[in-house]
Amino acid sequence: MTQATVLSGIRATGKLHFGNFMGAVTHFVRFQKPENLCMYFVADLHTLTTSRDPEALRGNVLEIVKDYLAAGLDPDQAIIYTQSSVPEISQLSLLLSMVQPLGQLEGLATIKELLGKTTRDQQTLGLVTYPVLMAADILGPQATIVPVGEDQRPNVELARDLADRFNHRYGSTFVLPEMMDESQMVKVPGLRGGKMGKSEGDDTIDINDSMFNIGERYRKRAVTDPQRVRATDPGDPERCQAVYPLHKLITSDHLEIAEQCRKAQIGCTACKGRLVDSIASVLEPFQERRAELAGQDDYVRDVLYEGGRRARNIISRTLEDVQSKMGLVIY
Ligand code: ADP
Ligand code: TRP
Repeated sequence: MTQATVLSGIRATGKLHFGNFMGAVTHFVRFQKPENLCMYFVADLHTLTTSRDPEALRGNVLEIVKDYLAAGLDPDQAIIYTQSSVPEISQLSLLLSMVQPLGQLEGLATIKELLGKTTRDQQTLGLVTYPVLMAADILGPQATIVPVGEDQRPNVELARDLADRFNHRYGSTFVLPEMMDESQMVKVPGLRGGKMGKSEGDDTIDINDSMFNIGERYRKRAVTDPQRVRATDPGDPERCQAVYPLHKLITSDHLEIAEQCRKAQIGCTACKGRLVDSIASVLEPFQERRAELAGQDDYVRDVLYEGGRRARNIISRTLEDVQSKMGLVIY
């Protein structure tokens, strides 16, 4: 008996960073259990809303799937695919767009943010309908749980609203998807102390970088308590936005470290060193498996081919139901 249908995706806009790893991929692996149907994909169509480099897109898709596999996703336990290999998702998106009010899209926080970051010439129709395509991703397989970071909440809520609106208009069709439990959601800080993000400039930790480079980046760039000038000054971990919140997430004795910081018994460099040790204990096993996949593009393509076939099978059933309820007859 399937307990949950778990679905999530990541755009192929570049290399995955530690925020993507802890905020998304780790949860993908956690939900991968025999009783769940897990569907994880690369949102290559969504990538086209902001990227225009075909060669980079082709490469990034394969790299991200290798990251998925090295992190522990198993093609025998989860369906792994690219969005564009399932044309039924795009078809469903068009049909959902007939039900989606325009006003709600224009007011959505994620869209406002995207519009704010782009020039008029980059503001395409595809960018504005981003959440409708995302709703099709989620509703196509009737997902019950969508593991994503907090920043994606408006998009998941829009998918819920859209499902609800469709069900009222055409009769019960979609299950309403949920986010993960709030307590499981994390926000990984970047080196400058805000949220780690690809679009935030040189602020991220690439999960495939060497531990030496990661250490250097923390030592040289990560901001600490701005009011702690000398190592002998007592520090305040709560003011240390780039380092301490991450300790809280991944360092088991972080309370001790905080106490030492308050008493000026540990300096910022040593504290950062402890953080890098914690990152290493998370990333080293991943990087070992990842190295083995480096030259295995053909294997990755096979995984995507099989995943695409299985995903089409599932999503086409929903599409047929939706077409029929809306009065379309496919001759
Ligand atoms: P980015 O924000 O770097 O462009 P994406 O939007 O592609 O990353 O995010 C992919 C997934 O990773 C989403 O589920 C998102 O919520 C999650 N995520 C991104 N950055 C972080 C972060 N700093 N902390 C926690 N989760 C994050
Ligand atoms: N919008 C998501 C992000 O930026 C990526 C995404 C696209 C997604 N479709 C999805 C996530 C469906 C979860 C479910 O991270």
